[in-house]
Amino acid sequence: MSVTAFLNDPARQQVLAAISEEIEAVEVVLRGELSSQVELVQTISRHTLDAGGKRLRPALVGLSARATACDFERERARKLGACVEMIHMATLIHDDVIDRAATRRGVPTAAAIYGSTASILSGDVILARSMAILAQDGDLAIIRAVSEAVVQLAEGEVAELNHRGDPELSLEQHLKVLEMKTASLLACCCEVGARVAGASETEREALKGFGYHLGLAFQIADDLLDYRGVQNATGKPKATDFREGCATLPLILLWPKLSEQDRLELGRAFGAESCDAAIDRAIHLMHKEGTFEATQMRADDHVRLAIGALKALPDSEHRELLESVARFVVSRDR
Ligand code: IPE
Ligand code: IPE
Ligand code: MG
Ligand code: MG
Repeated sequence: MSVTAFLNDPARQQVLAAISEEIEAVEVVLRGELSSQVELVQTISRHTLDAGGKRLRPALVGLSARATACDFERERARKLGACVEMIHMATLIHDDVIDRAATRRGVPTAAAIYGSTASILSGDVILARSMAILAQDGDLAIIRAVSEAVVQLAEGEVAELNHRGDPELSLEQHLKVLEMKTASLLACCCEVGARVAGASETEREALKGFGYHLGLAFQIADDLLDYRGVQNATGKPKATDFREGCATLPLILLWPKLSEQDRLELGRAFGAESCDAAIDRAIHLMHKEGTFEATQMRADDHVRLAIGALKALPDSEHRELLESVARFVVSRDR
């Protein structure tokens, strides 16, 4: 179910329907781009595509282009929307190998069904295909922006891996990882939309700023959902971050408030094989110490900054829809 399905805005039903149509059109491009002469690649790609997902990234490309009020080529925006979604898909396939995640989007991960090696290699094919779309489009500035975002994203995943098992990770180091692994791609989607529409530099920078803060809000909300979400809705296993020794905001904000005893016990269980009791304890303490609320407040701050960045754009229904997307990412349950 795409992101537009969650945007409950009766005043803008028409605009929402138009964007939904755009995402449907991106879906068609994706289906074509994800065919492969190698059956296993095609199977893994289709499995990931058919599992669904919010299609937030192509929605951002289309909405950003429309929010500039410039005329643009719809087909180009769709192709580039498919390109950023394919980058995202490849990342998720790889991420589930890294995180040893059993489910995503409510179904078993590619790695769980087809194994890590097949998933890593198929993810590589999807990523390479996305680069081919960029080359076909041929806009050097877009090629540069997207490839830089992919570098940031991949480096972010490696940086996160470097910090695994460290519950005392500093807030600064953690935010840097979020910036790289998530905010970079979302900022890039908005920039691509602006570039397709031939927006002015001021509008482009505004949209990039919007995407950057949206990305931080989005990842912080995702990290909250990891602890607090209902598995039926998120479609992902619970507390994977704790199990895999990945310190995120709820834990980072909790750590200084813990007693010596709790710090010792949670520290021992962090990233260990059997840690269910410690996870329950951590969640209990996160409630008690208010670190869930504090985390939510940080996500909300980034939503405000994201919406503030849009002020440079002309008043329009599309700009308002972008604002709704920002509010949605921190109130979502999936
Ligand atoms: C999940 O992204 C990975 C993160 C950056 C947190 P999404 O929540 O956009 O995943 P889908 O595409 O909707 O499944
Ligand atoms: C990784 O973040 C997704 C990327 C941005 C590469 P997470 O590991 O938190 O994503 P989920 O929770 O598995 O979707
Ligand atoms: Mg993960
Ligand atoms: Mg997560």
